[in-house]
Amino acid sequence: MDQLLIKGPTKLEGEVRVSRAKNAYLPILAAVLLTDKPVHLKNLPALRDIRTMMKLLENLGVKIHRNGDVTTFDASNLSSHEATYELVKTMRASIFVLGPLLARLKKAKVSLPGGCAIGTRPIDIHLTNLEKLGAKITLESGYVDAQVDKFVPKRIALSFPSVGATENLMMASVFSDGETIIDNCALEPEVDDLANFLIAMGAKIEGVGTSSLRVTGVKEFKEAHYEAIGDRIEAATFIIGAAMTKSKISIRGFDPLHLRFVLTKLEEMGAQIERLDDGVIVSANGLIASDVDTAPFPGFPTDVQAQMMALMTQAEGSSVMNETIFENRFMHVPELKRLGADIKLKGHTAIVKGKTVLKGAPVMCTDLRASAALVLAALVAEGETVVDRIYHLDRGYEALETKLTALGANIRRVNVGS
Ligand code: EPZ
Repeated sequence: MDQLLIKGPTKLEGEVRVSRAKNAYLPILAAVLLTDKPVHLKNLPALRDIRTMMKLLENLGVKIHRNGDVTTFDASNLSSHEATYELVKTMRASIFVLGPLLARLKKAKVSLPGGCAIGTRPIDIHLTNLEKLGAKITLESGYVDAQVDKFVPKRIALSFPSVGATENLMMASVFSDGETIIDNCALEPEVDDLANFLIAMGAKIEGVGTSSLRVTGVKEFKEAHYEAIGDRIEAATFIIGAAMTKSKISIRGFDPLHLRFVLTKLEEMGAQIERLDDGVIVSANGLIASDVDTAPFPGFPTDVQAQMMALMTQAEGSSVMNETIFENRFMHVPELKRLGADIKLKGHTAIVKGKTVLKGAPVMCTDLRASAALVLAALVAEGETVVDRIYHLDRGYEALETKLTALGANIRRVNVGS
């Protein structure tokens, strides 16, 4: 088990380039199952979840060949339609293979993802809408057992703009005989990126970036080359780190429009942010409290909630954080309190009193974004913080300690055995 040892307080300086987006590449990797033509993906981030998805693809018969920063996928001969529990239990994004397997093989057997630390993570919106499009689905002994003769083009409306459900349904519809319309779909940039990848393979999709996607089925796909968007959540993590430590750094490799609500909120709290074509330059000399409600895009992203709460501990005054998307996404709170944060929880609401002096202490990661919040708080805390169970962090941040060291942080990874 690895740990991060972080000595604070820290000043950051210089420039960091974020990796390509995990939450864009995970559905894009699943979409590889749709085609019998080669797919070449550039700069896949070295993340645990990406490796898990690639292992799942190989188990289904996809041949994968890496050549420098391009990884080529050959899904011309799928040997299985089953995503087993062993793989799915470690990464719930495996459910993204359901739509593509049904569209390509007309059958799929995918383990129910099970919950995770931040919530029960149901997939009812995925399943009910796949059935509306013609899939026959049974749930037994922990598996989704699905088959379809042919997906029927239809107009469907999601009960909630679910990112995963939008992506699964979009992928399921690419070979239908006609136009499938998905209303109330998710607007996250990663959904747009998947749509643009499908279009690069030859899919016909209109309304990208709107809440109504129109997918017109095509007969077959062509060879495609693609590189996903920059990881806006990683970028937000560095931006918040700069604001918390009163540093001036530049963060490149992402589109600031993908973080417009976060940037506006941080400016409201006292940060100075210069927007560039492919990133931002951020600085701050003190922060004032503000309230945040998480919301679907373009609202404040739930994936930045934990990091924002760490920042709120350094803002003068009382901030209120409302988590409206997931039912259990406050597990970083007890750990932040171990560092000296003053946070009171009332259901889905956290009241953060700042500015508090944080002091280094041993803390434990519970989920991906909680881990990032602890690292940020440790940069500010006086003394040494030991961040344990950082396998959670490795799911979504590529070489975070290397990037932070290059910015001047005193951080190192140690292995403490199993
Ligand atoms: C994606 O998860 C992201 N994961 C999550 O990022 C992100 O937090 C989430 O979108 C919201 O932005 C990937 O893209 C791999 P949802 P997803 O379906 O698709 C409920 C990270 O940290 N819901 O939009 O699972 C659900 O319970 C991860 O990188 C249903 O009720 O999110 C939740 O309350 C964490 N039924 C809400 O909708 C369903 O069928 C949003 O879920 C599906 C979802």
